[in-house]
Amino acid sequence: MARLTAIGCGPGDPDLITIKAKKAIDAARTILCPASAADRPSIALSIAQPLIEPAKNQKVVKLVFPMTRDPAALEEAWDRNAEEMAREVEAAGRAVYLTVGDPYLYSTWMYLHTRLARDHPEIEIDVVPGIVSAFMFASRAGMSLAEGAEKLTIVPSCYDLTQVRELAKSSDTMVFLKDGQYFGQVIALLREAGYSADSPLAIGQDLGTGRERVTRTTLGAVDADMSEMRYFSILMVRRARNG
Ligand SMILES: C[S@@+](CC[C@H](N)C(=O)[O-])C[C@H]1O[C@@H](n2cnc3c(N)ncnc32)[C@H](O)[C@@H]1O
Repeated sequence: MARLTAIGCGPGDPDLITIKAKKAIDAARTILCPASAADRPSIALSIAQPLIEPAKNQKVVKLVFPMTRDPAALEEAWDRNAEEMAREVEAAGRAVYLTVGDPYLYSTWMYLHTRLARDHPEIEIDVVPGIVSAFMFASRAGMSLAEGAEKLTIVPSCYDLTQVRELAKSSDTMVFLKDGQYFGQVIALLREAGYSADSPLAIGQDLGTGRERVTRTTLGAVDADMSEMRYFSILMVRRARNG
């Protein structure tokens, strides 16, 4: 039976890839990975690259997922990539699919998994979890995600932000993922929602890479100009004890 292992490669530092993931990579004949265009590098592949042994001569296949919100284009990409993945896995006998962070948080994997399970039940699937970027960031920033009865909310910041004000009222910690360009709007909404000026806030970019940037500040002091921020950014805010 052909076997596919989806792997969470963690947020950027290859040392955070699990031993189980490394064993699956070693056992694969083909390594599949997502990219936003055929001529763009795969971030997931770049994280795992130091662990890939050249002597194994593994085939590397990039699956292209365009950065679009057009439902028809997304559906087409998921269908096309699931079929290509199935062909490659059948041919290889053993393959892995690399994802950034964990495969079940804002990842291409779940769309492929659904289609493979439905259309290719002959392929055996297993998943190796990875360290979620937000969890790695908490340790970089030295901030807890949740304590005691506290509630944590994770928000993708490149979509409709109108609910942020409401969500903020019932969240002790909020983590914003995806495009850092929107963090200026997020900061304004958090201030309006009643998070006090002394609420601890941290922003991270390109964690675990040579370009890593981490800023620890407060909601009152943070500079809301986020024009320099990139897609691989995280913002985390905790309600001040008195806030
Ligand atoms: C498509 S989501 C993938 C999330 C991933 N599956 C996870 O478990 O963290 C991509 C977003 O994750 C966050 N992210 C992932 N890796 C990161 C890193 N090394 N540095 C900063 N943010 C990162 C950013 O918010 C980025 O826009």
